[in-house]
Amino acid sequence: MEAFLDFLADIPWWSWLLIFLFLVAIRDIFFQKAHTISHNYPIVGHLRYWLESIGPEMRQYFVANNREELPFNRIERSWIYASAKKENNYEGFGTDRDIYKHQHIFIKNAMIGFQVPKNHPNNEHPYFLPCAKVMGTYNKRKKPYRPASIINVSAMSFGSLSAAAIASLNQGVEKCGAYHNTGEGGLSPYHKKGGDVIFHFGTGYFGVRSRDGGFSMDKLKVLVDENPCIKAIEIKLSQGAKPGKGGVLPGSKITPELAEIRGVEVGKDVISPPTHKAFSTIPELLEFIESIAEETGLPVGIKGAIGKIDQWEELADLMKKTGKGPDFITIDGGEGGTGAAPPSFADHVSLPWTYGFSKVYSLFMERGLSERIVFIGSGKLGFPGKAAMAFAMGVDCINVAREAMMSIGCIQAQVCHTNRCPAGVATQSKWRQSGINVPLKSDRLAQYFKTFRKELLEITHAAGYEHPCQFNMDDVQVNVDDDYLSSDLKSVYGYQKEKVKFDSMQNLLDCEHLGGKPALQKTL
Ligand SMILES: Cc1cc2nc3c(=O)[nH]c(=O)nc-3n(C[C@H](O)[C@H](O)[C@H](O)COP(=O)(O)O)c2cc1C
Repeated sequence: MEAFLDFLADIPWWSWLLIFLFLVAIRDIFFQKAHTISHNYPIVGHLRYWLESIGPEMRQYFVANNREELPFNRIERSWIYASAKKENNYEGFGTDRDIYKHQHIFIKNAMIGFQVPKNHPNNEHPYFLPCAKVMGTYNKRKKPYRPASIINVSAMSFGSLSAAAIASLNQGVEKCGAYHNTGEGGLSPYHKKGGDVIFHFGTGYFGVRSRDGGFSMDKLKVLVDENPCIKAIEIKLSQGAKPGKGGVLPGSKITPELAEIRGVEVGKDVISPPTHKAFSTIPELLEFIESIAEETGLPVGIKGAIGKIDQWEELADLMKKTGKGPDFITIDGGEGGTGAAPPSFADHVSLPWTYGFSKVYSLFMERGLSERIVFIGSGKLGFPGKAAMAFAMGVDCINVAREAMMSIGCIQAQVCHTNRCPAGVATQSKWRQSGINVPLKSDRLAQYFKTFRKELLEITHAAGYEHPCQFNMDDVQVNVDDDYLSSDLKSVYGYQKEKVKFDSMQNLLDCEHLGGKPALQKTL
């Protein structure tokens, strides 16, 4: 035995390498049947797969220019990272964008901007920027809610994001007075770290699911009673990245913790159908909304990505006729993100945000309904300039998903669907998420939101207004084409936004329905 070991020890290292490569070649040619390239080009064929796998990182770090990458380019990502860390987020020497390019937007500044008076709330609270409308007042809900921040965390479930990421987002919103939308996976303990919560459910009814996979009003009532952090309820009809696409949560991923939060069985596959069981027509949807609001006392809204418009028209007609309806409507753009979706859906199904939102907003406005609805927009709107455009078009609040993820460390690796997120944000791997320092990351989310609000306020003041709700379609211009060069949003989208009732920022601060209480007690 000893002689044999001595013989092995005498073999030089390069011979081991040759033996190894020889074995790989034998495997490539004779045993593996999956890859033609490796079969035809043994050993070197592996290089192709390896280079392909590291291609995105190589392009991101060495090749892509500052404005090239999608969904978010380097300038956008760096702005979020710097804002979240309260570092210098300015750029020097002027814009590097071609501002004559098609679809580029401009916000019109006033000759003399808005001057903040001496005892204005923004002097004491420089980041205070609440929603100008209250959810649920028109419909006389028992517990109306005014979001204390115009920027908030969009629906992302515990399951698609890690426990550490959800806890960071929730503690973060608590620190800056925003709300946190739970996403479809139910209300987890990580959503209960002090922030205002919008409870969101989809066709899987996770967290409020009956034994047969339908919706349980009893469970929802208990959930709302036991969790005063829930300020409103959102029914998901669709999301921009995959409208009308159901899904399967494989049994292998359903741990006892996930099963308890979602109200499903451990280890058994769970199907989220493409459509709801609780309603199948617009009148039924309206009744469903009303019954939830009646039973819980909370404002109730719907979230959808926009494609065909006829059912939205039917909803608006019915709302006008009955005087009932959703308290808020979240419009998601086709450019929206997801934990996982087939590329054909993500690329092609549903309209981009500006096209979809303009259609839906104008049809509610034409029927005189816009005042009673809080409009929320999502779809790459987490930047102050784009937010100003969205306000001009009629939004009252903005939800951000991936921008919020980036503020807590996401590096846009685009592997959310593999459970191998290198930043520990979109994974269930205990090891990967153990690198997330929750108190630090929650500070980052809070700081990103505060910087965002401060910069949006500065743009608002430059345009001569006190609050972004005062922006209208004439205030923003977009490059259209060679005939018109550039045109205001009113001409491009064919409507003028309904004026939002707004007296003063002080009135918003004094509102009894204002959320974000813990943050407000400190300086926002
Ligand atoms: C990881 C991840 C999970 C998501 N989960 C949900 C969800 O459960 N329900 C939903 O309606 N939208 C979900 N979304 C969509 C977002 O809420 C949001 O509408 C969309 O990403 C657009 O916002 P953004 O451009 O700021 O990311 C998810 C998005 C991401 C990135």
